[in-house]
Amino acid sequence: MDFKKKVVLITGASRGIGKATAIAFAEQNAHVVINYRENDRAAGNTMTEMKIGDHLLVKCDLSKPLELKQMVDLIIQKYGRIDVLVNNAGISQIHEIDQVSFDDWQKAWHNIIQTNLIAVANLCYLVAQKMIPMGGGRIVNVGSRGAFRGEPTQPAYGASKAGLHALSQSLAKQLGKYHIFVNAIAPGWVETEMATTFLKDEERASILADTPLGRLIQPEEIASAVLFLASEASSGTTGAILDMNGASYLRT
Ligand SMILES: NC(=O)c1ccc[n+]([C@@H]2O[C@H](COP(=O)([O-])OP(=O)(O)OC[C@H]3O[C@@H](n4cnc5c(N)ncnc54)[C@H](OP(=O)(O)O)[C@@H]3O)[C@@H](O)[C@H]2O)c1
Repeated sequence: MDFKKKVVLITGASRGIGKATAIAFAEQNAHVVINYRENDRAAGNTMTEMKIGDHLLVKCDLSKPLELKQMVDLIIQKYGRIDVLVNNAGISQIHEIDQVSFDDWQKAWHNIIQTNLIAVANLCYLVAQKMIPMGGGRIVNVGSRGAFRGEPTQPAYGASKAGLHALSQSLAKQLGKYHIFVNAIAPGWVETEMATTFLKDEERASILADTPLGRLIQPEEIASAVLFLASEASSGTTGAILDMNGASYLRT
């Protein structure tokens, strides 16, 4: 897979899956735009680990539409195009319906839906405006197994990811005529900071027992799938949701 001269925007690329994806695209000669929210040091480290290519760091809070627009304008100013958009950034927090106050319940829903779903819809809009006159492009959205399995302790997270999968499929139908491919990946637990924040030792053991692979998925494995969905190798695939959960949850 060669992404020579392709411009790839990856949200939330300072850490975890986004970072692994940025490094994988750089290894395939892409120009990578590393978006992040606040962690300058981690974003800088991602940039340092991408040895070849002309990359760009953009600090931008995706939940703020004006900042999103400024980010897209900056990328167009520098490279003149966006070939691949990877909507990877996401947040979560525990907000159990029978434990939290009504105020905290509303805050959790607002923040999570704003970042995980509305920001993605907005960025898809802004980037599609650039891809349409270019004659096509690829959008890969990082969803979650939680959309199918249920997320009792983080219901807004599960709902945001179900919405993200539906958004991907709707856009795949509407944008196919412009040769813009839209797909999603639905990972189970992936070994990143997001996962380790939630996992205590005993939970980790029960999660490992749940999957026949006996291990968590690694960020680099998700990155490989993103590259596949962003490449010509997947030319017949749009509107798909790729499960990557080590057979821990099989949907029918
Ligand atoms: N890890 C898992 O087990 C798992 C499972 C299923 C799905 N996923 C999904 O995979 C994606 C990546 O997860 P991860 O585990 O790699 O996450 P992570 O390690 O927590 O990293 C999150 C990234 O998103 C960025 N971010 C968060 N809010 C943002 C905002 N408002 N604007 C811009 N950037 C923002 C962070 O930037 P800063 O560094 O600046 O904070 C960071 O780069 C998420 O969508 C997540 O829901 C993860």
